Amino acid sequence: MINIAVLGYGTVGSGVVEVIRTNHELINKRAGEEIKIKYVLDLREFPGDPVEEILVHDFEQIVNDPEVKIVVEVMGGTGAAYTFTKRALEAGKSVCTSNKALVAKYGPELMEIAKEKKINFLFEASCGGGIPIIRAINGSLTADEIDEVSGILNGTTNYMLDKMITEGADFNTVLKEAQEKGYAEADPTADVEGQDACRKIAILSSLAYGKFLNFENVYTEGITKITPEDMEYAREMGRSIKLLGTSKKLGDDSFYALVAPFLVGQDNPLYGVKGVFNSIFVHGNMLGDAMFYGSGAGKLPTASAVAADVVEAAKHLHDTIPNNWSNEEMTLMEPDSVEG
Ligand code: HSE
Repeated sequence: MINIAVLGYGTVGSGVVEVIRTNHELINKRAGEEIKIKYVLDLREFPGDPVEEILVHDFEQIVNDPEVKIVVEVMGGTGAAYTFTKRALEAGKSVCTSNKALVAKYGPELMEIAKEKKINFLFEASCGGGIPIIRAINGSLTADEIDEVSGILNGTTNYMLDKMITEGADFNTVLKEAQEKGYAEADPTADVEGQDACRKIAILSSLAYGKFLNFENVYTEGITKITPEDMEYAREMGRSIKLLGTSKKLGDDSFYALVAPFLVGQDNPLYGVKGVFNSIFVHGNMLGDAMFYGSGAGKLPTASAVAADVVEAAKHLHDTIPNNWSNEEMTLMEPDSVEG
């Protein structure tokens, strides 16, 4: 039996518990051992909830329990989430997270600790919700020289823009809807100002190009400056507005990356990506083009990716699964200096 602890019982945390409990038979079979959720950590109480009996409020109970081999961090943010992740890894426990802010900011340090301890720091759910993009870049595409990663990386803003353009919906009303559906971050500023997409393009680029892209260096513009006139203009032209994250490798040591809203015509495959869906385009020198499409946010799609990481971590309790991550920092070209 492999005991795990889930840090945070919000949208994603409750989803992880649901996925592991609903699919327990196949998950146990694929992990090779029974996966048991020993603790759920949250500051709140959940009277009557199935996790009531395993709910704890003190991380020390988890980090000091040698039976806990895998910790799921789905609290969000870079405060306690960082401290707890680092301490769990230092204590020899693998960590699986959906937290892109944590990976984008502290990925190099956390990856290093995981390697030293011969355990895993896994983050499939940090980009594209349920879309298996990270494992694809690390695995199926690992023989390719990737020179572009682009796409719709934020479900909340795609959902909002879609409704604003096609139905003339109001910004605050659709943002509230996206929050109620569990798509948005705890602080939705990260979604609407593009910071969430920025962290995702930084993580994907770091894996795709084998150099660490510091998210703070990525020019980022969200959707808050788009006016009703812009929407009207797009509608009249038969186009849509999409918040895109894009990065390219232009030469041996020449990269650029940005996040911004783009006008997208009907001949572009991204035009048809509606609602909370994400779509990520990857170009490789041998592969050519590939598109990844699916639920980009929400409780169960995101939890499905986290639970898959738990299975992977369970299969590799004493070795670090190789990946394309490198801590050598990437220098970006100024967007203005890039032609085309
Ligand atoms: N807030 C994020 C989004 C959640 O809307 O895409 C999934 O990463």
